[in-house]
Amino acid sequence: MNRLLLAFLLPAGTMIATAQQRNFEPPIMGWSSWNTYRVDINDRLIRRQAGAMVELGLKDKGYRYINIDDGFFGHRDADGKMHTHPERFPDGLKGIAEHIHALGLKAGIYSDAGSNTCGSIWDNDVNGVGAGLYGHEHEDAELYFKDWGFDFIKIDYCGAGQELNLDEERRYSEIRRAFDDVGCGNVSINICRWAFPGTWAKDLAQSWRISGDIAPDWNSVKHIIGKNLYLSAYCRDGHYNDMDMLEIGRGLSPSEEEVHFGIWCMMSSPLLIGCDLTNIPDASLRLLSNEELIAVNQDPLGRQAKVILRVGEGYILAKDIGKLRGNTRAVAFYNPSESPCDMEIATKDLELSGTLRVRDLVQRRDLPDVRDGILRACLQPHSVKILRVEGEGRTEPEIYEAEWAYLPCFQDLGKTEKDVFYAPCPEASGGTVLQYLGGRRENHAVWDEVYSENGGDYLMTIDYVPRPYSKIEVAINQESPINIVPESPRNDGQKLASTTVRVRLNPGFNRITMGNAYGWTPDIDCFRLKRLAR
Ligand code: GLA
Repeated sequence: MNRLLLAFLLPAGTMIATAQQRNFEPPIMGWSSWNTYRVDINDRLIRRQAGAMVELGLKDKGYRYINIDDGFFGHRDADGKMHTHPERFPDGLKGIAEHIHALGLKAGIYSDAGSNTCGSIWDNDVNGVGAGLYGHEHEDAELYFKDWGFDFIKIDYCGAGQELNLDEERRYSEIRRAFDDVGCGNVSINICRWAFPGTWAKDLAQSWRISGDIAPDWNSVKHIIGKNLYLSAYCRDGHYNDMDMLEIGRGLSPSEEEVHFGIWCMMSSPLLIGCDLTNIPDASLRLLSNEELIAVNQDPLGRQAKVILRVGEGYILAKDIGKLRGNTRAVAFYNPSESPCDMEIATKDLELSGTLRVRDLVQRRDLPDVRDGILRACLQPHSVKILRVEGEGRTEPEIYEAEWAYLPCFQDLGKTEKDVFYAPCPEASGGTVLQYLGGRRENHAVWDEVYSENGGDYLMTIDYVPRPYSKIEVAINQESPINIVPESPRNDGQKLASTTVRVRLNPGFNRITMGNAYGWTPDIDCFRLKRLAR
């Protein structure tokens, strides 16, 4: 069927994305100086790393950015112009950016939203005092992007936060406006505020950090994955949750490195290598060069995998690749625990049908077909399996977890009380519920890809943890909301309750929202859809 005809037959918003359609950039890939060198960087070092990236074949695998992090600052002169560090970068950064470009690579730079850089505070780098963008937004943008030619900037928050106590949304918006003013709105921007900053970030930046700084140890990797498990809804259309630079090649065990790289790929995080490339262990280089994993990260749909199932302490995550709601999905079995874990998932819970063809993307080999409807894996502690799974068909989803929802008011800055968040709840289907949803109209949850093959009537069952005096307003597409008065908290020890309503879905994607404009909703766990016979 041609696309015009398809567009005519399907309601707005239901166009199925295909590989040819991408009109946004994938997560950036490259190298960054911070993890290995902190502020102790210099001209020769950056050139050597850039050279190594090409020589090791990493450029050919898609690694393109050479990012100079904190440490290049010299002083601001009487006119406010920034100069580079006299010993580390005596010849400035323009020549380095040119050199990077001449290698066919892109160049990244670093600054702070406030006056002082993080290095000036944590690494005694006195030259970072007054080096940030604060009060110099336009002139620094002119210098870094137009004069020196940088393509990317990471904007940190040490000076802006702990020193100036600025409001994040306002401050990053001012900076973005200044970049636009000088005609540099097209540089790739990374917001570095060490927590999911809020849904406003997508209007300003291509990526945003969701955690504190990574370290080359297992607990750090596990912690960051944990922070990103429920943020898949915010990764859309070329905007990515940044899990921080890679610690591969810096002492993690081989299976921990596979978890680190594999999950960064599943979650479409930027991939910025953080080790000394001139000295990278062979196995780490092989992992970073794994084209099949890289393809999962750079997939044209640009999606972040969702947690589909929790099994003990393990997780099974999945995302569509290549084609939205196609027959092929990337699936990760992840065991962060200290004991081996046998995991399995039913084919139908992956929304697939028929025989599954399975390929292990870490080992780069095909596994036996799955014909009995259950995909199984035995996972050692701290390990992962990343699979490409192709079914014969795609089925309608039966369940939508609350933790897959897009929450327009969600942020993780920890500055205010009673903000909506993904709260652990062992009794809930995915071990998580939405807490503090409602209270105002904007604070709702959105599932915008509720799929129905043919449209029609469904029973929608909402599982929730009751709260006193709560209400759920459920809206399907443009229809006026259905008001549901849920149960009051129970005293029989049972935590979850459920309620069922009849809804009508359009063919293709539907948008369902839940909230309460004037009071809280109960804590939402999930909803299930059951098609009614015609
Ligand atoms: C912060 C950032 C790090 C790094 C340093 C530089 O800690 O989160 O990634 O850029 O600052 O000082």
